[in-house]
Amino acid sequence: MKGIILAGGLGSRLAPLTKITNKHLLPVYDEPMIYYPIRTLVEAGINDILIVTGGNSAGDFLRLLGNGKEFGLKAINYTYQEGEGGIAEALGLAEHFADNQKIIVMLGDNIIEGSIKQAVSDFEKQPKGSKIFLKEVSDPHRFGVPVIDGKKITAIEEKPKKPKSNYAVIGIYMYDSQVFDIIKTLKPSDRGELEITDVNNAYIKSNMMTYEIIDGWWTDAGTFESLFHATKLVHAKKTSKK
Ligand code: DAU
Repeated sequence: MKGIILAGGLGSRLAPLTKITNKHLLPVYDEPMIYYPIRTLVEAGINDILIVTGGNSAGDFLRLLGNGKEFGLKAINYTYQEGEGGIAEALGLAEHFADNQKIIVMLGDNIIEGSIKQAVSDFEKQPKGSKIFLKEVSDPHRFGVPVIDGKKITAIEEKPKKPKSNYAVIGIYMYDSQVFDIIKTLKPSDRGELEITDVNNAYIKSNMMTYEIIDGWWTDAGTFESLFHATKLVHAKKTSKK
């Protein structure tokens, strides 16, 4: 399975920190944000990784990461997203890289405590479709929120004012090669972006979505509050092991 890390966008919610650099190069405790999703994928056995970036600091990713030696990789692939057309648009740029294989996609500002190794292995055995992860949160209105009926997800609502569950759809998604055909059918949302939630709803509609509740903590790091929270969680994890 191939891995794709999405690190485009303008990070406007973190201005002025993102005025002269890319959000994913900002520090989370003692390492740049982008290190965390790379480690999560590598630990899950994903060695063929594409980073989709954008903006003015794209060259800094190459300077920082090179061929990924620090993570035990032989090479890292890079591609460039013009503008900020949304998560699904950024993912669409990975079609050639994916080469009809299954993929795992991780948002570059998502950080998890634990491992997704078992879920990756489960998805490798899943004949087709997609798999997502949920986490119970106190502020679901900030995220994609699943509508759950019994054990089944019947829809996902993007940043609903009145969330229908206390779960967030976290920024790690596994897809079969159909995902690129789905992306081609999408229309921009009210915020002018191709939404990953619309991709996930297409899989739900055709009954091809499985999910798991992720163990350990999960956070995004795309706002001042969540970046600060992420730093505290990472600090606690790293210092408790010393
Ligand atoms: O963190 C999980 C949440 O991420 C999900 O629950 C939501 O369903 C999903 O829409 C997303 O919400 P955000 O509004 O927080 O996403 P954001 O715009 O902050 O983008 C997250 C990452 O995706 C960002 O760090 C880089 C990448 N991205 C985003 C955009 C808009 C791109 O690569 N290109 C883009 O154009």
